Amino acid sequence: MTNALLKLHDEVLAGLEEVPLVRVGGSVCEVTPTYLRVNGLSQHLRLGERVSLQLADRAVIGEVVRLDTGGATVKPFDERTAIGIGAEAWRAGALAFRPHSSWKGRVISALGLPLDGKGSLPLGEWRMPLDGEPPDAMSRARIEKPLRTGVRVIDLFTPMCQGQRLGIFAGSGVGKSTLLSMLARCEGFDTVVVALVGERGREVREFLEGPLAPNRHRAVVVVATSDESAMVRRLAPQAGLAVAEYFRDRGESVLLIVDSVTRYAHAARDVALAAGEPAVARGYAPSVFSALPRLLERAGPGLEGTGSISAVFSVLVDGDDHNDPVADAIRGTLDGHIVLDRAIADQGRFPAVNILGSVSRLADLVWSHDQRELIRKLRSLISRFEDTRDLRLLGGYTPGSDHELDQAVAVVPKIYDALRQLADAPPSRDAFAELAQAIRG
Ligand SMILES: Nc1ncnc2c1ncn2[C@@H]1O[C@H](COP(=O)(O)OP(=O)(O)OP(=O)(O)O)[C@@H](O)[C@H]1O
Ligand SMILES: [Mg+2]
Repeated sequence: MTNALLKLHDEVLAGLEEVPLVRVGGSVCEVTPTYLRVNGLSQHLRLGERVSLQLADRAVIGEVVRLDTGGATVKPFDERTAIGIGAEAWRAGALAFRPHSSWKGRVISALGLPLDGKGSLPLGEWRMPLDGEPPDAMSRARIEKPLRTGVRVIDLFTPMCQGQRLGIFAGSGVGKSTLLSMLARCEGFDTVVVALVGERGREVREFLEGPLAPNRHRAVVVVATSDESAMVRRLAPQAGLAVAEYFRDRGESVLLIVDSVTRYAHAARDVALAAGEPAVARGYAPSVFSALPRLLERAGPGLEGTGSISAVFSVLVDGDDHNDPVADAIRGTLDGHIVLDRAIADQGRFPAVNILGSVSRLADLVWSHDQRELIRKLRSLISRFEDTRDLRLLGGYTPGSDHELDQAVAVVPKIYDALRQLADAPPSRDAFAELAQAIRG
């Protein structure tokens, strides 16, 4: 579906900034599998700007990833296009979307083209740059409105607020996408924007027709599958943010879901390496670590008087190592992280949330005094229960000798049972009441 769509359609052209003044053209002087070199334009170009490359029958666009006196390094969005030496290159400005309220219910590509066969996308009046700036920190509204997600373990132990940014961290196949899809059902949002980055093609339809189906009418889905170029994959979360920012500026409360930011980081790494940056941390170039917070900061509350973007980002941790540099950089930027644990998933306990390893930095805004005390107590019982797991298995535990441990052994399995929630189970209405009932029962 991708190749034909990457052609420079009218819609993409409409999203490109108008570049006034004299049109200055350059030409391609070097072609490699990962980048092109363009002569004659470098004095007029800026980093991150788009360049349109003229082929015999159409134009393709690329992005300037490096500038030097010898010319510009350009990475085309479609790397499979056969561009030859001497192809004309033109400045094409910054890429932007012109979202419209009728985009709800639609599936679009990272370049803003419809992917759902429902005809062309109406264009709105506002031009939203894909690499937009986060709102000014001092003028941002404060986060204060609690949110019920309907996922019991989150509403109890890591509750969210509107405008909060949360990460879901896990190794592969532990349940990130499933948990995201459960969150996509969350009520209390006007719009859901989903950016699927580097997903397998199969998963896209599963996501759209499965968990998202009841919410399709209020969801805009941006898709860049794993077979697309690094440039397009890097663009997908930015495109999702541009759409989310549009609805936020209209005063709506938006839920943004990005699956996964790690694939965005991988794509950003490929682009940086093609630009000649050195690899500093596990193959990642320094610009990846500055691009990540710039992207993540765009989510969150808007300026006073506008709406907010609550965001959930999934993060694939390399080989279950939660301290890999990308996971670390992302964790430090967000307002909370939920850690999924393979050992818990192996026990068949879903969502496989590691309660003790998960934190919501805004939980205190949600919990009442009593609820906070209760959660503190439950966490300490869970910690006792997990710490003594081996001891108990080896028969080193005699009931009656340690009151707190007795309590933990009696209560924690009930908590774990209460937290089980299958992907298609109904959302929880009142997590605290449901937990209390489970413990009493
Ligand atoms: N809440 C749940 N209820 C039942 N099964 C679940 C749940 N969450 C995850 N699973 C099981 O775990 C499997 C993997 O889940 P999922 O695809 O969400 O993982 P992932 O972390 O997104 O994987 P990847 O890293 O490959 O994208 C699912 O196919 C499903 O069998
Ligand atoms: Mg997944």
